[in-house]
Amino acid sequence: MCFDNVINRKNTGSIKWDMMEEFKMPKDVLPFWVADMDFKAPIGVSNALHERINHGIFGYTLPTNTYYETVVNWMKRRHNWKIKKDWIIITPGIVPTLNFIIQLFTKAGDGILVQRPVYNPFTEAVINNGRKVVNSSLILRENGYKIDFEDFEKKIVENDVKLFILCSPHNPVGRVWTKEELLTMGDICLKNNVLVVVDEIHHDLVFKANKHIPYASLGQNYSNNCITCTAPSKTFNLGGLQISNIVIENQEVFHKLNKYLENISLAMTNVFGIISCEAAYNTGEAWLEELLDYLEGNKKYVQKFLTEKFPMIKVIDSEATYLLWIDFRGIAMEQNELETFIIQDAKLWLNDGYTYGQEGSGFERLNIACPRETLKLGLERLEKAINNRL
Ligand SMILES: Cc1ncc(COP(=O)(O)O)c(C=O)c1O
Repeated sequence: MCFDNVINRKNTGSIKWDMMEEFKMPKDVLPFWVADMDFKAPIGVSNALHERINHGIFGYTLPTNTYYETVVNWMKRRHNWKIKKDWIIITPGIVPTLNFIIQLFTKAGDGILVQRPVYNPFTEAVINNGRKVVNSSLILRENGYKIDFEDFEKKIVENDVKLFILCSPHNPVGRVWTKEELLTMGDICLKNNVLVVVDEIHHDLVFKANKHIPYASLGQNYSNNCITCTAPSKTFNLGGLQISNIVIENQEVFHKLNKYLENISLAMTNVFGIISCEAAYNTGEAWLEELLDYLEGNKKYVQKFLTEKFPMIKVIDSEATYLLWIDFRGIAMEQNELETFIIQDAKLWLNDGYTYGQEGSGFERLNIACPRETLKLGLERLEKAINNRL
């Protein structure tokens, strides 16, 4: 796979590339926002889909035994995480599943903990379901984002929190939580009867110096008190095929979610989602290794560019994900001014940091999962706009 190939995604209904009018964006912005990649999925995925298309019958479908074995093997091989096939529930996405979990395992008004700045659908799911958002902000230190454990516990106790939504690795700040950090959070949750929902969708996209530790692999008591959300969609760029694998060891929790999905007739998912997940996990590993190298190259490219030209703009050194969290506070613009500057002057479509919580004000999230040439174009636009201002 050559990740340098620029592929035109216009007129494909792409949310990233085709929705300028819907989102009231100028037509000529260059998009680096929503979290999908401008790369083709591994060839093994397309081949498997072609084969299924050639069969020509697309009736109701469930995953077969080999599907479950494939998922089990992936978790073992890539993450040293031993799961069983009857711990897996397929769903059409993590965000809908988070909403179901909130509805099932909490009551109206219950406190749910999040760590902002964080992927905004976490907060939205809490609010949309009439629960209370309890936030324990991540703290930016010289050496990156940290958890304030004292605050974390205090917020749980004071608000009688029932559920904690953990993003691991973390979007947007790019942290890969260490074993100590996971254990400390886990112990506080166990002590206070807080169910942990851990969203590990970015678990495969970890840069070399770091190691993702599945929360449920910390030990039996942690695993028994958690729901792990995984998916092949970020790893292999399959977002539009809508498939996720929810892993739950605790059989009571498993059956509660499973029964709920059956009741609302969602125990089944799209045939192409199933085919693509199986093919990606079976054939996509070499592609993934190359992708990780390419993304790391893109990350370094952005870091070098900005450090050399605009040292007042700081790129937070991410340990995972293809989303760079960039601190623009050094260019002294109010939030609204920064937003307008990025869109109107630089003609870039990024994700504004404040959408992940007030902690993100003055930051922007840049999606670097694109050919380097596209990234270069984007950075040149930024350079020109900043120089015009100075
Ligand atoms: C942390 C996190 N969870 C979930 C999702 C989306 O998951 P899905 O498409 O399965 O709903 C994203 C997409 O960016 C994400 O970053």
